Amino acid sequence: MEISVIGAGYVGLTTAACLAEIGHHVFCADNDTQKLDQLQNGQMPFYEPHLEGIVDRNREAKRLEFGPTEEGVDRGRALFICVGTPPLEKGEADLSAIERVARVIAHRGHGYRLVIEKSTVPVQTGRQLKRHLALFRTKELEYDVVSNPEFLREGAGVEDFFHPDRVVVGVETPRALEQMREIYRPVLERTFACPVHSECSRQDAARPVPFLVTDIASAELVKHASNSFLAMKISFINLVADLCEAAGADINRVAEGIGLDRRIGSSFLRPGIGFGGFCFPKDLQAFVRIAEKLGCDFSLLKEVERINLRRLDHFVEKVKKELWVLRGKEIGVWGLAFKPNTDDVRFAPALAIIRHLLAEGAEIQAYDPRAVDNARREIPEVTYCSDPYEAARGTEAVLLLTEWDEFRDVDWERLRALMERPLIIDGRNVLSRDVLATYGFQYVGIGHDAEVPENELAGARGDGSGKV
Ligand code: UGA
Repeated sequence: MEISVIGAGYVGLTTAACLAEIGHHVFCADNDTQKLDQLQNGQMPFYEPHLEGIVDRNREAKRLEFGPTEEGVDRGRALFICVGTPPLEKGEADLSAIERVARVIAHRGHGYRLVIEKSTVPVQTGRQLKRHLALFRTKELEYDVVSNPEFLREGAGVEDFFHPDRVVVGVETPRALEQMREIYRPVLERTFACPVHSECSRQDAARPVPFLVTDIASAELVKHASNSFLAMKISFINLVADLCEAAGADINRVAEGIGLDRRIGSSFLRPGIGFGGFCFPKDLQAFVRIAEKLGCDFSLLKEVERINLRRLDHFVEKVKKELWVLRGKEIGVWGLAFKPNTDDVRFAPALAIIRHLLAEGAEIQAYDPRAVDNARREIPEVTYCSDPYEAARGTEAVLLLTEWDEFRDVDWERLRALMERPLIIDGRNVLSRDVLATYGFQYVGIGHDAEVPENELAGARGDGSGKV
């Protein structure tokens, strides 16, 4: 099918490239001419595992083309709207980019267009979109509006496109439904050649992908409610982690025990420094705002947000408890991105923590496998390093703030020799206290730190001399 994806951001580019990979002819549109030039010349505007190869292959095969929004509207029969919906001051989603695209479709669209809302939007946006198209359309435009929320995780977006837990479509006509089914057919029937795993399609063939058909408003709500629920799970486990610290229990075991209940499930029960990124924090706020507008009190989610914000102070307090005075102290930071496998630092807890430590006079040397350039633009006063050892050199503590695999696989002996004091504060609970202790490190994690007795501290210094 001739498809245009409007918006070449994270969701748009991933969707466009993957739709091309399953055989559609896709025109990916954006108004940022610099970004379009980059994409046409084979440069990626962000890092996402597997995506570059898919973009290259499909661009070369001419199944994926790039250009301005107007051309996208002219060329595509199905138009996926994937533009940004950033937060306004009070948390409401800014829908002006969606409105601009709707205006272009109304003015230029001719014949039939399937208008698919994929950007994350508050419930009832579809209704507004329809109204807008009706108000401004040219005579010859016929259209259906569909809500097709995306559930792509950054860092695993390609995998999520090809192996979704579900495809949700909110439709109003049989024609729209049939076309949505046609667009996703290779994914639903698993007939694509998977660019991520060599064997998976065949293995998965017996397990059909749930294709949930709803009205437009319900599909819109599925998206906001899913993100809010996941955020709520994270804040819940973070509160339980605090309780574990107070009670001398171990959150890792508690989370395991809770997650074994199939009604709850084990995912999104990893405690730490809180959720970040461009989705959860903004979607939570937008969900609360739209609920309020419609007369529903969602203070539950305001508390989720408050708990999440408190994670940052809680972590900084941990650092202070260990280092006492921060002024003039050298601290190493591992991880800057809001999560591993991405270079995205928007609303990254790591950056918020660094800002806090800098404000208290600490000196920060930081390393991230992918996000250093983006972080440098945000916080230039940090010393950025090219590997985890450099970031740890001469420091009194290393703070692990993003759980990249690389940090699980460090040469601990080498690291210990570089550090002023062998202290690791693990904001993501991914390292083992026992393993680190064998290398002479003191380890502080989240939710499993009953007070460490003084004699254990001396042992952790490793040389028995009490000096580091
Ligand atoms: C999230 C959703 O998971 C996607 O389904 C959705 O499509 C996307 O938002 C979106 O709305 O576009 P994403 O923000 O990329 O995806 O990342 P997640 O993997 O959900 O992680 C979000 C944050 O929660 C990260 O900061 C992560 O470190 C944190 N997290 C996650 C935890 O602190 N604990 C956990 O157990 C899981």
